[in-house]
Amino acid sequence: MAQIVKRVVQSPVCGSLLGTCHNVTGVIRGFNKEVFASQICRRSLKTCSVRSSSSASGGNDLSTKRQYNVGVFGAGRIASSVHIKNILQKRRLNLKWVLDDSPTSVSSCKDLLNLHDTPFYSSEDREQLLNDESLDAVFVFTPTDTHADYICESLSRGKAVMTEKPCGETYSDIKRCYELSEHTNKILLTGFQRRFDSTFQEVFKATRNNALGNLRFMRVTGRDSPKPAYEFLRNTDTGGCSLISDMAVHDIDMTVWLTSAERPISVYTMSHMHDPIMKEIGQPDSGLLALKYESGLNVIIDSDRESPYGYDMRIEMFGSEGMARAENPRETAAVIDVADGGKCNRLFNSFPQRFEAAFSKEIDHFIDCLDGTDTPLITKEECLLSMEIVEKGVESFRSGKVEYL
Ligand SMILES: NC(=O)c1ccc[n+]([C@@H]2O[C@H](COP(=O)([O-])OP(=O)(O)OC[C@H]3O[C@@H](n4cnc5c(N)ncnc54)[C@H](O)[C@@H]3O)[C@@H](O)[C@H]2O)c1
Repeated sequence: MAQIVKRVVQSPVCGSLLGTCHNVTGVIRGFNKEVFASQICRRSLKTCSVRSSSSASGGNDLSTKRQYNVGVFGAGRIASSVHIKNILQKRRLNLKWVLDDSPTSVSSCKDLLNLHDTPFYSSEDREQLLNDESLDAVFVFTPTDTHADYICESLSRGKAVMTEKPCGETYSDIKRCYELSEHTNKILLTGFQRRFDSTFQEVFKATRNNALGNLRFMRVTGRDSPKPAYEFLRNTDTGGCSLISDMAVHDIDMTVWLTSAERPISVYTMSHMHDPIMKEIGQPDSGLLALKYESGLNVIIDSDRESPYGYDMRIEMFGSEGMARAENPRETAAVIDVADGGKCNRLFNSFPQRFEAAFSKEIDHFIDCLDGTDTPLITKEECLLSMEIVEKGVESFRSGKVEYL
């Protein structure tokens, strides 16, 4: 096993290809919000109906559909606790290898998932791994600053890609990835798992056909539990504001999805560093984004790195004809009422428990995309709009002023 290497990927595979990727002809360069919004709206409706039929069969009918050979980049927290476990459970996927540069991650992933027979590699081996013609797809679960290079290397070798969010650290990285996906005609699915959660899907359906009337207000709450390790917080988006780019990016994706990619006109960020270590790191642990839209919609996204009562992810949408809310499910649905008050169970502890089913459906959706029976629910245009909002939010965090899109 190679020693731990620098996280920033030195690409042995992509080299000249990254140049090619910038010069892709025939790609959409402009960003026409009306066209994209209507495309996204139609797409989202189609996906809801397709998904329900596909999940009924589990997408796992081996008698008619072939198995896909897949590799995994990253054996850390989310890979070990969620994704690799799900991949192993999908009979349509054959896990050929896992790649990670940390011997500690490798050994704990092997032990946790009993993967002693699965080959593990380091990033130095990836050229050889990606040259394998029998490999159909890869999953990217490494830190965000490695995503764009790993995605482009894989797409350029003809592999479909599913990646953890966001697929790149900047607007131009995300554009580069999606343009290469279009150029190579290979699937790129970005994993915003809330899209596959039945509660959020129901709220999405409630907003269709203008059922809530003219939208006036939306609140998206994201409070993490437990607080991520300081090592993670120290190393994530060090030059920016990770509360927005790493955490609120999920909430921003929700606003993009639920408004059919309506484009805000301005973003304002307020934040605070409560924890002295976060202050020393220079990153806020608590804050809000205020988004204003030309249609009259106002949105508040409130984010916190630590919620003592469990993983708290909620949405409320209010319009001229009604209101829709996504509340938190609990560990059980029991409610105990006695004379001096009531009691219910705690919220789920963290994302692996809260979104267990959604993460699994996300992989089923990727398999449907590989089969060609569906196309990625999370689109290039939506990812680009989300990143524009992230970047303006970070600008506002720095300037202390309202920033305009
Ligand atoms: N969807 C969600 O709710 C959610 C939750 C947590 C994390 N994430 C995302 O998942 C990704 C991974 O996060 P995590 O919490 O699992 O991080 P992590 O640090 O626990 O795991 C990352 C792993 O990648 C390995 N690694 C680092 N650089 C590498 C390189 N250049 N090549 C190969 N391996 C390398 C590390 O050794 C580590 O094992 C991030 O993009 C994060 O944003 C998403």
